[in-house]
Amino acid sequence: MRVSLQEPWSIGDVEVPTRIVLAPMAGVSIQAFRRQGRRFGAGLVCSEMVSAAGIEHRNERTFGYLRVAGDEHPLAIQIFGADPHAMADAARMVETAGADIVDMNFGCPVRKVTKTGAGAHLMEDAELACRVVDTVAAAVAVPVTVKMRRGVANGSQTCLELGPRLVEAGAAALTLHPRSAQQMYTGEADHSVTAELVERVDVPVIASGDVTSREKALAVLEQTGAAAVMVARGAQGNPWALREIVDAEPPEPSREEIVAELVLFIRETVRELGERRATGFLKKFYGWYLGRGRFPRPFKQELVQLETLDEVETRLFAAAPGARFVLERLQDELPQGDEVLLDLPISIYGGG
Ligand SMILES: Cc1cc2nc3c(=O)[nH]c(=O)nc-3n(C[C@H](O)[C@H](O)[C@H](O)COP(=O)(O)O)c2cc1C
Repeated sequence: MRVSLQEPWSIGDVEVPTRIVLAPMAGVSIQAFRRQGRRFGAGLVCSEMVSAAGIEHRNERTFGYLRVAGDEHPLAIQIFGADPHAMADAARMVETAGADIVDMNFGCPVRKVTKTGAGAHLMEDAELACRVVDTVAAAVAVPVTVKMRRGVANGSQTCLELGPRLVEAGAAALTLHPRSAQQMYTGEADHSVTAELVERVDVPVIASGDVTSREKALAVLEQTGAAAVMVARGAQGNPWALREIVDAEPPEPSREEIVAELVLFIRETVRELGERRATGFLKKFYGWYLGRGRFPRPFKQELVQLETLDEVETRLFAAAPGARFVLERLQDELPQGDEVLLDLPISIYGGG
């Protein structure tokens, strides 16, 4: 049976308009990225992982402010931590910040996170994992969800035992990235495990891993019976992949469209992070936007070396002058204002 990628579905009482979820990615999924993802057809967008301890103590390195814009809903904010009460406090804060869903990270394989008992480490401690979910679910009115890996060790199937228990503890949906934590991002995501998890739980499952095209999205939905697919690396500097998956539109945009989207992204990032932080943060995006054979390689290298973002913009417009008009149109169409601002420190670690 073929699922329509444009068919709405729900997590608890939150309606999600399409079957595409834009993944949480540390160092990537800032508000500018999420808003763009919604514009290109993602039905649900996720923040990067936010440290519950960082929220609790407000003493971690601060990367900016947790900001939710009116046009990114529905939005899941992802938190990580291993202490049920700190997680519940963090969940209350992100609910106040405007999250429609609180997602919990049980998949991060990075040692900095797992050594604190959080991320993928929770998959090894089912009892604590369930206590975290139960406490968080009791603390907020919005649905709570969990994102997992298949397990810690290669070949592990821990997610199949843990998943149903997490649902019993209160998870309203599960996302599975069926690689082991040990695998990090090597090899392939084994979606036969996702199919097995779908069989075992009565809440929606989101399939994450190696979905980069419409063909792959449809194949994964068909193979697994999942409610939706999640796109991560395939959408980095490439919102057109989302449009192709949802609408069957050709993935290749014009040079003018690429430059216009990149300049808009640069401006939104500066607004969000400030010029100084944005300058370093954006460098990886130049390669993502301009790569894929879209622009010659030396052009990207030239941009990375420019000192100011004004120079980057000027150079981009010189390469595609028509982009100014595309950008004007884009900016006219964007909703303005309607932003909730909270003074919360967020931490960026990475991985899941
Ligand atoms: C740079 C990067 C950062 C990530 N950060 C997170 C994160 O903060 N939380 C999380 O649950 N997963 C995180 N992930 C995992 C992705 O959400 C996704 O599950 C994984 O990349 C597999 O999907 P893909 O093949 O579409 O990339 C991250 C992945 C990447 C590449």
